[in-house]
Amino acid sequence: MEESPIEHRPLDVLILAAGLGTRMRSDLAKVLHEVDGRPLISHVCRTAASLAPEKIYVVIGHQGDDVRRAVLRDLDESQVTFVEQKAQLGTGDAVNSAREYLHDRDSTLVILSGDVPLIRPETLAGLIRQHLSHRGKGAASTILTVKLKDPSGYGRIVRGDGGIFESIVEQKDASDEQREIREINAGIYCFDTKLLFAALEGVKNDNAQGEYYLTDVPTLLRHAGEPVAIYQHGDTQEIEGVNNRMQLADIERLLRRRVVTRLMLDHGVTFIDPRTAYVSEFARIGRDTVIYPNVSIEGESRIGTGCVIRSGTRIADSKIANGVEILDSCVIVDSEIESDCKVGPFAHLRGRAVMRAGAKVGNFVELKKTDLGRGSKASHLAYLGDATIGEKSNIGAGTITCNYDGVRKHETHIGDNVRIGSDTMLVAPVKVGDGASTGAGSVVTKDVEAGELVVGVPARKHSPPKTETA
Ligand code: UD1
Ligand code: MG
Repeated sequence: MEESPIEHRPLDVLILAAGLGTRMRSDLAKVLHEVDGRPLISHVCRTAASLAPEKIYVVIGHQGDDVRRAVLRDLDESQVTFVEQKAQLGTGDAVNSAREYLHDRDSTLVILSGDVPLIRPETLAGLIRQHLSHRGKGAASTILTVKLKDPSGYGRIVRGDGGIFESIVEQKDASDEQREIREINAGIYCFDTKLLFAALEGVKNDNAQGEYYLTDVPTLLRHAGEPVAIYQHGDTQEIEGVNNRMQLADIERLLRRRVVTRLMLDHGVTFIDPRTAYVSEFARIGRDTVIYPNVSIEGESRIGTGCVIRSGTRIADSKIANGVEILDSCVIVDSEIESDCKVGPFAHLRGRAVMRAGAKVGNFVELKKTDLGRGSKASHLAYLGDATIGEKSNIGAGTITCNYDGVRKHETHIGDNVRIGSDTMLVAPVKVGDGASTGAGSVVTKDVEAGELVVGVPARKHSPPKTETA
């Protein structure tokens, strides 16, 4: 096949993210609203970066500083140039804000919308391929389109004789007849950069919204005799835009379904009710793990094979090994659970809590920045904070590590094979040696030696009464 002359040009990406998003009825700029726990702009930035372009331009305006910060969480400062659009006069004006950087640049420019977050890198690769190879020479502009059952709200694609591209007509400017057209503009395009900026000079704002539309550029190019192509895509969900909160919820649902479907089909995870599962795009779950209804798995969580996670549990940024059973309504954040542990119901792990293999944490137990050793148990009603607990120890019901003196946090260290009696208060800093025990209700203010039994308030060494021999 003959190579088109534009195939060797560098690739740039420009992301439109300056609008407020009036229809969101929000004080927060639209692209900062979240799906999958990340702002919309973050999804688009990651997709843009996956194309490995030479540069990514982000047009910012409303809450520009916050949008900039959000972008820099995903992209390196060297990858991105921020362009400020002073007043939001339309998508054409937004692109025009990058004129000084791009007007005479010999490149291919992909334009993405900050409010269309589900678009896949593979789809963009297809768009770029078609753009570069159009009629052997490449196109001046290629528009990504789809056919929708309900096209309302989107710009319609008007085609002339032989299906040739004629124009894009916005909903508000469309005639009744044009509103019947089901093929819509996804708001995603490929342009010859120089031709785009030349054509932008001719864009006017004589339309229903009084805005400078980017969507007028393909028509201007066509009038100038330049080739304009259409890349019609089959997947209608990928191009869904967020203009109101209903659509935001739709996108959330579509993304979750995409993730859950992949986990079921490719990774062998069982979801009892896939509709109510909330699993982040970045989470990993192993084979034969069973997930009950209303479970939320967020961030970069890792869950092993053969686990059971019961209803109402939330797991965020945590690592869970194989064969772990998590009962109903647990909250596990920023923590690690080794293999064969049992957790819950109603347990709370946070602040880098660690449960070693085979440990158990039961009803109404909170672990904060605590390492619970292999096979150790805290089965009921306890607060364990800033603590280390050795192997095979038992923490009785109602035990509390009193870790805070009103100013600073202090640590508690408990050894192996320790028996902490019910309702023990461990006033930190304090150490309890291997094989030691505390009596029910004791308040431990001093270190306990290995093998010792302490009781009372404050706890003292308990000497068993002398047994009299007859
Ligand atoms: C746009 C398209 C429409 C298409 C739809 C797809 C135009 C005129 N219309 O309409 O044909 O079907 O997207 O989702 O382009 N923005 C700026 N500065 C502005 C205005 C907008 O940066 O002055 C940004 C917004 O932040 C947003 C994007 O551009 O990320 C799209 O703007 P929006 O107002 O949502 O356009 P739509 O009405 O959805
Ligand atoms: Mg939009």
